[in-house]
Amino acid sequence: MEASLGTHFLSVKQLRAEQMQQIFQLAQTWLTSQNELIWPPQLLKHKTVANLFFEPSTRTRCSFEIAAKRLGADVLNFNFAASSTQKGETLFDTVDNLQALGVNLFVLRHPSAEVPSKIAEHLGQRASVINAGDGCNEHPTQAMLDAFTIQRYKGDFASLKVAIIGDVKHSRVANSDVQALLTLGVHDIRLVAPPALLPAQVMWPEVSLHQQVASGIADADVVIVLRLQRERMASMADLDSEAYFRDYGLTLENLKYAKKDVIVMHPGPMNRGVEIDSSVADGPASVILQQARFGVVVRMAILAFTRIPPHP
Ligand code: NCD
Repeated sequence: MEASLGTHFLSVKQLRAEQMQQIFQLAQTWLTSQNELIWPPQLLKHKTVANLFFEPSTRTRCSFEIAAKRLGADVLNFNFAASSTQKGETLFDTVDNLQALGVNLFVLRHPSAEVPSKIAEHLGQRASVINAGDGCNEHPTQAMLDAFTIQRYKGDFASLKVAIIGDVKHSRVANSDVQALLTLGVHDIRLVAPPALLPAQVMWPEVSLHQQVASGIADADVVIVLRLQRERMASMADLDSEAYFRDYGLTLENLKYAKKDVIVMHPGPMNRGVEIDSSVADGPASVILQQARFGVVVRMAILAFTRIPPHP
């Protein structure tokens, strides 16, 4: 396997479109046309992967665990609450010790931006780091599985209209998704949110900002819904969920503004009745569970393309 990702995968900005397509092609080989998973070769046999999650997680952590195990790796789930970081040990010392014990690759989620990059820099070529979400900054493997899902349902990226609706301002998923979709050639990306939850400025001319759901999702092929990430909000913790649902919640009624064959995605965790109505979440346009399932094969492909240093 050509290790085209390098030792660490920290940001979607690392990847060109061809490398993303390489990842998708490999991921695809582990799915049947009915989206059943196919067992892969044991590409990570004799490797040890540590899941280091300093924030709650269901999908991302479990999906990395399943992906690594399917490739034959040993997987260690680090319990942050019961760890020596609670006794004042630095994160550098923690990873150094785990690496000494035999860990070859760290899957790292942290509430502060850039922590995975700092750990990667510290470890150098001793062990790999994959960013599983750092503060409001990036969530590159989520972006890859989101883009894979879009490609699997919609084919060519260039003609698509993609709307991201919800708390864009605090979302590392939105950040990484926009970057990945631009790299893959999407020309029409809309960010839809109340003014306080939109980014202050957009760095990309292809991206438009919308305060109204109707204009934001008009004619959209894909709608990605995001949760209100209250834990990342400095203020607005008192934002009224009912009022938010009334104005920005995705319902069958306002989904009519999008194309008839629109797909609805959500990275999870989902707050029903706040950003999305159950009739949409469980309705025919929803590909939310398939999206989660695709996360396993996309993460398998990412692990397979990572140059994981051997343990000395
Ligand atoms: C997201 C995250 O943690 O960034 N969830 C995920 O990884 N599937 C989105 C969120 O927290 O809202």
